[in-house]
Amino acid sequence: MALVAVHELLAKAEQKGYAVGAFNANNMEIIQAIVKAAELENAPVIMQASQGAISYAGLHYITGMVKIAAENTAIPIALHLDHGTDFEQVVKCIRSGFSSVMFDGSKLPLEENIKITNKVLEIARPVGVSVEGELGKIGGTEDHVTVSDQEAMFTDPEEARYFAEKAPVDSLAVAIGTAHGQYKGEPKLDFARLETIRSLTGLPIVLHGSSGVPDEAVSRAISLGVRKVNIDTNIREAFVWAMRKAMQDKPEEIDPRKILGPGREAAVELIREKIKLFGSSGQA
Ligand code: G3H
Ligand code: 13P
Ligand code: ZN
Repeated sequence: MALVAVHELLAKAEQKGYAVGAFNANNMEIIQAIVKAAELENAPVIMQASQGAISYAGLHYITGMVKIAAENTAIPIALHLDHGTDFEQVVKCIRSGFSSVMFDGSKLPLEENIKITNKVLEIARPVGVSVEGELGKIGGTEDHVTVSDQEAMFTDPEEARYFAEKAPVDSLAVAIGTAHGQYKGEPKLDFARLETIRSLTGLPIVLHGSSGVPDEAVSRAISLGVRKVNIDTNIREAFVWAMRKAMQDKPEEIDPRKILGPGREAAVELIREKIKLFGSSGQA
């Protein structure tokens, strides 16, 4: 089927109280793994292209591969721009066929974030493309921030209420204690803050940096209104460890398909487990 808008997937998730997995699409094998896992679980999925993925694979390759994947399955699939920070790139992605975009203005002053998010809404709405906004700073685990530094970057609930009122996005990415990449220790999520943000905005909430967050914490966040859960690092880990093992087992192997194939299979298993955890199995 054709690509589906994220707000349509989130509306159903909202009604039924589950979250949709948003998996980073970095190459053909990972795209195929996401589709296979979604088919095996009969679950809707979001494929998202990060800045790194776009510069690695190229926008047209990503769009082309995801469109082919969607056209050849009965599973609802959305194609989403992850952490778009540039208005021009948002336009390019919409023109290229993305069904959803994120405008990440989290590094901008609040009013500037609202202004550009509205510009994005203005061009996305008429063509049925969904828009995710971000408020608060979701850093990387490599940023070496202390707990108090991290808390200073958390989403302020009152600001979130104001943001949602001034820039009526379809979903909101929040900073509540997660970070991108591999965690050094166990991340501690601020559930009270999540609950307040949710009640003040009424928006479907997006959890970034979800790889490595304990399953119970992910489930609790979903029970409090998280409707889109972003996973990248865990897929990278599963994929690369399986390739590493394949190379160690057969150091003389020169057929890349014999190395990439096991990576793809490991990614399928990982993504299936995440889909089950998010409660979206059987919801396609
Ligand atoms: O949100 C960040 C992604 O997980 C990774 O981004 O592909 O640009 O390194 P990247
Ligand atoms: P992880 O790589 O930590 O899973 O984060 C993914 C993400 O938030 C993409 O936007
Ligand atoms: Zn992210």
